[in-house]
Amino acid sequence: MKEHQMVSGSPSEQLQQNNDAIMLKPPYTHYDQLHVYNFDKIDIGQIDDPDLIGTWIEDDTAILFFHKEKQTLVKEICHQSGAKIIYEANLNYQDWEAGLDITTFSVPPLLVVPLWEADKLTENVEEIPIKLDPSVIFGSGFHPTTRLCLQTISDIMGSNPDSIKSMVDLGTGTGLLSLGAAKLGVQQIRSYDNNPFACSVAEKNVGLNNCEDQITVLEADLRGALPDTHVDLLVANLYKGLLLDFFENPNFWNAKFYIISGFIPSMEEELLAALPMSRLKLLERRKSETWRLWLLANATRLE
Ligand SMILES: C[S@@+](CC[C@H](N)C(=O)[O-])C[C@H]1O[C@@H](n2cnc3c(N)ncnc32)[C@H](O)[C@@H]1O
Repeated sequence: MKEHQMVSGSPSEQLQQNNDAIMLKPPYTHYDQLHVYNFDKIDIGQIDDPDLIGTWIEDDTAILFFHKEKQTLVKEICHQSGAKIIYEANLNYQDWEAGLDITTFSVPPLLVVPLWEADKLTENVEEIPIKLDPSVIFGSGFHPTTRLCLQTISDIMGSNPDSIKSMVDLGTGTGLLSLGAAKLGVQQIRSYDNNPFACSVAEKNVGLNNCEDQITVLEADLRGALPDTHVDLLVANLYKGLLLDFFENPNFWNAKFYIISGFIPSMEEELLAALPMSRLKLLERRKSETWRLWLLANATRLE
């Protein structure tokens, strides 16, 4: 597990430097077209290009995202590194975001404002703003599970403001759930993701919102390497296989409250059967579209 740092000179470090390009920077003020190139290896060198959005690592391959078409550069990268292109795609940002327009939304008292709508940052003292660059990472706030989790964090912080001081966010994506919790008063948050690109985006979003003292972003593969769960709130918006692994691990069950999401009704029975109900209370089940969320409490930690 690493606190989002890389070994000096390694392919990972070079790719990490590529990911330093991830935030929108002039002349770009929003995402429009995405030009995506998937290389068959990760060791493709450092890419210093003003149109680079970032590099995604998946199964020992590197996927580069650009604002513009980059055929010449891609040929050059292949030539220099010996890599080959597995696939390439051009699409618009809305298509990448499941056809949705990523815009300002409210989960009271939070107001989530994408960078391209900075004019929506009002002086309204009732609202707590979060500035977000979602880049091409999960966690824009427009997936039902993200929204359910954020709403539940807001509700639980509203009803237990003094009892929730620490949190882990398993699979943080853009970091939005951690940011919401931090803005609502959680003081110590560890935010994990195995995607270095997601970690870079989350870290930059943490900086944009001045939450560095509250949130630590950690790059880690959580399969088989569960972090310390002795916290007040554990949030996991993940896929069924990983949730099942967690549920079967006794070290998962040290937190006071759990917000679990990322599953649909047909998965609920199998997931429910894996819960150690002797030590848990299922406080609430929530739903949005086809997605579900559970709010659980650790019976052994309730006063
Ligand atoms: C469904 S997204 C949730 C993102 C964000 N928490 C939200 O609610 O919008 C799941 C995140 O978990 C990360 N993830 C998937 N498998 C993981 C693993 N084995 N270890 C760590 N993170 C993982 C993905 O990279 C992704 O960012």
